[in-house]
This record gives sequence, C-alpha cells and structure tokens, in this order.
Amino acid sequence: MSRAHSRFSARDGWALAVIGALLVAASVLLTVRSAGPDWRRYQSSFRQLVTAKFGPARAAGVPVGPQQIWVPALGRTDRCITCHQATSWPGLETAEEPFRTHTPDVLKTHPLDRFGCTACHGGEGWGLDRAGAHGGSRDWPEPLLGKALGDAYQVGDAWAMMQMNCNRCHRYDRQTRGAGVINRAKQLTRAKGCRACHVINGSGGAIGPDLTRAGDKEPEQYDYTRVTGRKTVCAWQVAHFTDPRAVTAETVMPNFRLTTSEAQALAILVMSWKGTRVPAGFLVGEPRADVPTAEEAADAERMQAGPGAWFVRTGCSACHAVMALGVRSASQIGPDLSPAVDEVRKRFGQSVEDFLAAPTGTMAVVLSRQIILGREQKAAAVEQLRAAFAEYQRLQTPVKAPPHRKP
Ligand code: HEC
Ligand code: HEC
Ligand code: HEC
Ligand code: HEC
Ligand code: HEC
Repeated sequence: MSRAHSRFSARDGWALAVIGALLVAASVLLTVRSAGPDWRRYQSSFRQLVTAKFGPARAAGVPVGPQQIWVPALGRTDRCITCHQATSWPGLETAEEPFRTHTPDVLKTHPLDRFGCTACHGGEGWGLDRAGAHGGSRDWPEPLLGKALGDAYQVGDAWAMMQMNCNRCHRYDRQTRGAGVINRAKQLTRAKGCRACHVINGSGGAIGPDLTRAGDKEPEQYDYTRVTGRKTVCAWQVAHFTDPRAVTAETVMPNFRLTTSEAQALAILVMSWKGTRVPAGFLVGEPRADVPTAEEAADAERMQAGPGAWFVRTGCSACHAVMALGVRSASQIGPDLSPAVDEVRKRFGQSVEDFLAAPTGTMAVVLSRQIILGREQKAAAVEQLRAAFAEYQRLQTPVKAPPHRKP
C-alpha cells in the first residue's frame, strides 16, 4: 500500500496519539473523581476528625486502606470497617455516621472478630462503596437491614428488620434481650396456637405448610395477585397475617385480628426461619427445639389425666377447649366443645354424628389432613362430645339450695 493512499501522515498520527492520550487521561481522572473509591474520602475525613478531637499522634495510628474482618466460620468477609472506622473507638459516641462508636453492649456478647458485621446488619460485606456495601445492588440477596429498609416498610422500630438476622442464631430462645419485635412475635405464636396447624421447629400440625424453613421461600414462589402495593415477601406476609382470606381465598387460616405492628412482627419472625446455614457454635439455645415451660408441661399432664383426656390425646385441644371437662386450649382457634352437641344442631341443623361424618370449613381440613378418625373413633368422638355436653348442662343448672334445717 502506497503512502499517498493512507489517510494520515506520520505527523498527523503522532498528533492524534497525543490528543487521544490526553482524552484518556482526562476521562480516567473524571471517573476516579466521580465514581472512585469513596472510602478514601471517608478515611481522610475520619483522620481529620481524630486529629481535631484526639490530636495528630492518634490520627497517625488510624489504619489506611481497605480494612476487613474475616470470619471463616460464618463464611463472611466484612469490609464495613473501611469506612466505619470508629466502630470500636470509644469517645465518638455522638459523631455522625460512619464515624460513630458502636453501641457497646451488643458487641460485648458478640465480639467483632467472631461475628463481623453483616451477620447482624446484612449488607454486602465485600463492598467498598457505600451503595454496594449497604446492599443496594439489585441482585444482592441481603440488603442492609437498617433505617432505610425499615422506613420503606413503615416498620415503626428502625431496627426491627435487623432482628430477623438476630433470630437466625437465636431462633430457639424464648426471649432474646434486644430483640423485642421477635420476642413479641414468638409470644403471639404461642398465644394464637400457630402450631395447631403448622409445624414450627419440628413440631406441630399438618393443616398449613411446615414453617420451619419458611424464610427460604423465594419471592417468586408467592402469589401476589391479591396483594395490593409492594410485591415483596414482607408485604405478602403482612397482608396475609392481617387477613389470610384476602390473600389466599378459601384458606382456613384464621383472621387473628392482629394490629399492623403485630402482623409486621410475625412477618419478620417468619422470614427469619431459614434452613440452618448457621454453624452449630453460633446457634443459641439448648436443646435445639422449643421446650414447654414446667408450667405448661404440668398443665398438659393434668388435663391428660382428667375426664377430658380423650380430647387432649386426640389433638382436639390444640384448637378447642372443653371447659366442662377441665380442658383448656391455649389457642382457642375453634369454639369450646362443651355445648357442641347443641350448637351444631342450632348452627348447622344437624347432629354431631352427621357433622363429624361430613364436616365443613376448618373441620373438613382437620379431619382429612390432621386427625384421621376411623368409624369407631368417630363414634368415640360423639360419645365424648355427649359426655361433655351432659357435664356442661349439669354445671349450668343452678344447684338447688339445701333445705334450711333448724339447728
Ligand atoms: C464506603 C463507605 C462505607 C462502607 C464500605 C460501609 N458504610 Fe455504612 N455508612 C456509610 C455512611 C457514609 C453512612 C452514613 C450515611 C447513611 O446513612 O447512608 C453509613 C451508615 C450506616 C448505617 C446507619 C444507617 C442505616 O441505614 O441504618 C449502618 C447500619 C451501616 N452504615 C452499616 C454498614 C455495614 C454493615 C457495612 C458493611 C457491609 C457498611 N455500612 C459499609 C459508609 C459506608
Ligand atoms: C451482634 C450484632 C451486631 C454486630 C455483629 C454488629 N452490629 Fe452494628 N448494631 C447492632 C445493634 C443492635 C445496633 C444498635 C441499634 C440501636 O441503636 O438500638 C447497631 C448499630 C450500628 C450502627 C448505628 C446506626 C445508627 O444510625 O444508629 C452502625 C453504623 C453499625 N451498627 C455498624 C456496624 C458495623 C460496621 C459492624 C461491624 C464492624 C457492626 N455494626 C457489627 C448490632 C450489631
Ligand atoms: C451469628 C449468630 C448470632 C447473631 C446474628 C446474633 N447472635 Fe446474639 N448470640 C449469639 C451467640 C453464639 C451468643 C452466645 C455468646 C457466647 O458464646 O457466650 C449470643 C449471645 C447473645 C446475648 C447474651 C445472651 C445472654 O443470655 O446474656 C444477647 C442478649 C444476644 N445474643 C442478643 C442478640 C441480638 C439482639 C442480636 C441481633 C442484633 C443477636 N444477638 C445476633 C449468636 C448470635
Ligand atoms: C386453623 C389452621 C391455621 C392456623 C391456626 C394458622 N395457620 Fe397459617 N396457614 C394455614 C393454612 C391452611 C395455610 C395455607 C394457605 C394460606 O396461604 O393461607 C397457612 C399459611 C401460612 C403461611 C404462609 C406459608 C407459605 O409458605 O405460603 C404462614 C407464614 C403462616 N400460615 C403462618 C401462621 C402463623 C404465624 C400462625 C399463628 C399466628 C398461623 N399461621 C396460624 C392454617 C393455619
Ligand atoms: C386445627 C384446629 C382444630 C382442631 C385440631 C380441631 N378443630 Fe374442631 N373446629 C375448629 C374450628 C376453627 C371450628 C369452627 C368451625 C369452622 O371455623 O369451620 C371447629 C368446629 C368444630 C365443631 C363444631 C362446633 C360448633 O360449636 O359449631 C366440632 C363438633 C368440632 N370442631 C370437633 C372437633 C373434634 C372432636 C376435634 C378433635 C378430633 C377437633 N374439632 C379438632 C378447629 C379445629
């Protein structure tokens, strides 16, 4: 190829190369300044803050460059302290974030070198820019469970969402200090008798799905057709707890008339129930199961020995009291069965025999999925219900006052 045919002379080429190099340098500079590692900015601000507050000698000791806490047992590498340099630096309790001393109590029980940051806070431990580290990237499954998320879900307590992570290790605790939202939800779970229908931590009924690993259910696995507003797992759970039938038509899960904050607390609890990805040494509570208190155990024993033993043994007392026979039910999901013989006739216009032979509503699900009664057992049920009713009537009739006797 002859020179005349080339587009540029050698001289032009040089000029172009220089201009090109300048352009590259300028754009690199611009990129560095706008999107470069902002941790550098935070570190230099932190050194200034330390200089002003504690003098240049202390400032000289502030670590420079990316910092990280490696927690192999939890599979986490958390670089949060690259910016949050004051985490274990007493004296900066009132500084602005990210330069504030960490609340000390929780770090006394969970030393940073053993727990890192993200096991509690969520976020992307590896990230070195604020948005990324705080879990802002769309495909990162663990967003920072901080104020922004709490606000987005209108959860009153800014730290409520973080308690989801506390409970990944503390799920077998009845009470966890510092996790009030979770504690409240656990208390509700007992009071409302969720176990009558759901297996939780290995024990409970079979009417609803096993909830032991409910937190692993993927967002795509939920049906949002009847959920208004946000289409997220948390929103689905809150809507479902507030009114199960509004979300899942035909469900027998009762509407517990929960307040919004109760529904949110339960949603957070359910989302914390993930399959054990926490190594045994980080799981709190022994044994790894929910154990009844001594009082609950004594109560169960007393009822099992009493005249209502059949209802307890058969599992009816998970949902029904039979007060006439001394059987109480923690959940009271169904009505007291003492007057059932009469009530069924009044309500359904049929005998209990017929009701138990072809039940409707919740009992249709109970008797087909959870308590399968054969012909003889159904006869026994009718007999037991009659005995309960007889006792009920006896207690209802006012006791005749003994005739007055003259002394
Ligand atoms: C590049 C610097 C940087 C990194 C890395 C970083 N942060 Fe932050 N963080 C900040 C700044 C700046 C603020 C204050 C402004 C704000 O709230 O976003 C902050 C605020 C916070 C807050 C309080 C605000 C809230 O939403 O509750 C928490 C909690 C927090 N960071 C946790 C973390 C955790 C956990 C990590 C590691 C996964 C981390 N940060 C990594 C810079 C950083
Ligand atoms: C064992 C759980 C746990 C660990 C581990 C933990 N934190 Fe925290 N963090 C908390 C709790 C609890 C609070 C305080 C909430 C409150 O104010 O009641 C908190 C508060 C904060 C705040 C204050 C936010 C604000 O606006 O008040 C920041 C920032 C923060 N943590 C960052 C970190 C960083 C960085 C690490 C790791 C070096 C870390 N945390 C490790 C539980 C933890
Ligand atoms: C990665 C697992 C893990 C996470 C996450 C976690 N904890 Fe813990 N927690 C533990 C372990 C393990 C202990 C026991 C410490 C020891 O070995 O003595 C403990 C101890 C405690 C204690 C002291 C127990 C006592 O009886 O005095 C409290 C309170 C506590 N955690 C609250 C919390 C709160 C609140 C959170 C969330 C902000 C949280 N924990 C997050 C594992 C965890
Ligand atoms: C009378 C039985 C019954 C009781 C009591 C009950 N549920 Fe349910 N629950 C169901 C049934 C049936 C479903 C499945 C249909 C649906 O989505 O409503 C369900 C669904 C759920 C789901 C959705 C699970 C999933 O993966 O789709 C959660 C979470 C849940 N229940 C939690 C609870 C909690 C917590 C309580 C106690 C406050 C409770 N349930 C009490 C019957 C019950
Ligand atoms: C998982 C909870 C649950 C269990 C377990 C359960 N029931 Fe029920 N039962 C209910 C509910 C709820 C109702 C109220 C009707 C409805 O909502 O469909 C009911 C209604 C009844 C009624 C009609 C009472 C009335 O006053 O109208 C009878 C009778 C009855 N159940 C008997 C039993 C017997 C016997 C057992 C044990 C073999 C049992 N149930 C176990 C939840 C349960």
